[in-house]
Amino acid sequence: MPSHDNLLLEMKHITKRFPGVLALDKVKLELRYGEVHCLVGENGAGKSTLMKILAGAVPMDDGEIYIEGKKVEITSPFQAQQLGISMIYQEFNLIPYLSVAENIFLGREPKKGKTPFIDWKRMYKDAEDVLNLVGLKIDVRTPVVELSVAQQQMVEIAKALSIKAKIIVMDEPSATLTDHELKTLFDIIRTLRRQDLGIIYISHRLEELYEIGNRVTVMRDGQYIGTFEICDVTREDIIRMMVGRELTEEYPKVIFKRGPERLRVENLTRKGAFENISFSVHAGEIVGLTGLVGAGRTEVARAIFGADPLDKGKIYVDGSEVKIRSPQEAIYHGIGLLTEDRKNQGLVLSMTVRENTTLANLKRVTKWLFLNIPEEKRVSKKFVEELQIRTPSIEQIAQNLSGGNQQKVVLAKWLFTNSKILIFDEPTRGIDVGAKAEIFKLMNQLLERGVAILMISSELPEVLGMCDRILVMHEGRLAGELSREEATQEKIMQLATGYIKKNVA
Ligand SMILES: Nc1ncnc2c1ncn2[C@@H]1O[C@H](COP(=O)(O)OP(=O)(O)OP(=O)(O)O)[C@@H](O)[C@H]1O
Ligand SMILES: [Mg+2]
Repeated sequence: MPSHDNLLLEMKHITKRFPGVLALDKVKLELRYGEVHCLVGENGAGKSTLMKILAGAVPMDDGEIYIEGKKVEITSPFQAQQLGISMIYQEFNLIPYLSVAENIFLGREPKKGKTPFIDWKRMYKDAEDVLNLVGLKIDVRTPVVELSVAQQQMVEIAKALSIKAKIIVMDEPSATLTDHELKTLFDIIRTLRRQDLGIIYISHRLEELYEIGNRVTVMRDGQYIGTFEICDVTREDIIRMMVGRELTEEYPKVIFKRGPERLRVENLTRKGAFENISFSVHAGEIVGLTGLVGAGRTEVARAIFGADPLDKGKIYVDGSEVKIRSPQEAIYHGIGLLTEDRKNQGLVLSMTVRENTTLANLKRVTKWLFLNIPEEKRVSKKFVEELQIRTPSIEQIAQNLSGGNQQKVVLAKWLFTNSKILIFDEPTRGIDVGAKAEIFKLMNQLLERGVAILMISSELPEVLGMCDRILVMHEGRLAGELSREEATQEKIMQLATGYIKKNVA
């Protein structure tokens, strides 16, 4: 048994500089045995960088790290793993075309006796056992590419558990999970808390801190602000320390006059995904589309956007029927889709912030045949300012931005199009509370201009806070519609779990 007089982990005056950015300025972090230590801060505050240093993925410029009282040098991910550190990255690290089992045991595959041959039977069996721990019921032979984002997240967690780590870092695990999966994750975390290990938990959903956290460390702009027992600080205290000012309104909802119908869908059906989905969205309103992960929300959005074919159903834009067979045709009809999987579909990581911003509407920054670079610069500077995108300049490549700031660039890209209908799939995932409010204000500007917004979201407070009407899906069907006035968390959950049905054919 380790001596519990020591701290499990101590990081001291950690400093890290990137070109043009002081990402960490003498930051410290302590982790006790059996503790869930939350790490919070705005997008770009330095949370992921601090954890990447611990995981050996990024070298530090200065600082010291102690594990169980002993000073350690961490120079590679392999070494970090040997020291019992396991990190679940914000950007997933799984290899898409390998199976779930192969991903879990990558580099540690069980061998047949002393031979170099992989013992597949045992690997599949062991993989099944760890998947059981996280409550994921899928065939371990499935290639990871076929899994949903939430399922991939659970595989990452299963992998960390199988390494038998002492220090587990979770970088925004909840950003991709909905209530049911989150409950499983919290159950797992509570079980782990009883053992001789520690968990560092990064999240932008502050309510979670009170559910599972013991202490919280707040960072701002690469600086250490403080560490507190969760029970000693309120949500408002934490927000104030994170953003450095009082946040006036989290959900700045403005009710606009409902304009003409922009989008109507009738009996949309895609076999195996959703059935008979009918609804409309008018100019000036935000319609929420919610439900549990796997209910078919993203699939409906993809089909309207022409990314997946429909088996049946009609789509009307501004009252006339349209045929949408590809995203190009959807964009032509004024429909934009901000996807939940920004890494694969939203951003070109090797391009700059400036280039990404105008990508979906190059016409607006092109004069004759030439790209009007000064105009492009003006536009992207405006968005960087409005959305508070933390970047040393608009010429930074998207790859180097923090996760939340990448999301803001994707958002800027769609805000810059002439879309009349915008579909946002989990638009505020991984975005800090201050920036969320800014994004909602921009949505208000769009609504005022007559845009219609369909917002897919699993975060009920934001659905309740920002939507004019709320559609709830359950197992591929619409289970009901709620008006802003009548909607509550309980009513949404009852519909989402199939407990009741309302107002639908
Ligand atoms: N490889 C890199 N090259 C240049 N700058 C980087 C690199 N990685 C991170 N940064 C910068 O360091 C700062 C801290 O980023 P980090 O990813 O640690 O933020 P974060 O707190 O995790 O934010 P988020 O909540 O958005 O995930 C940001 O300004 C980011 O742009
Ligand atoms: Mg991060």
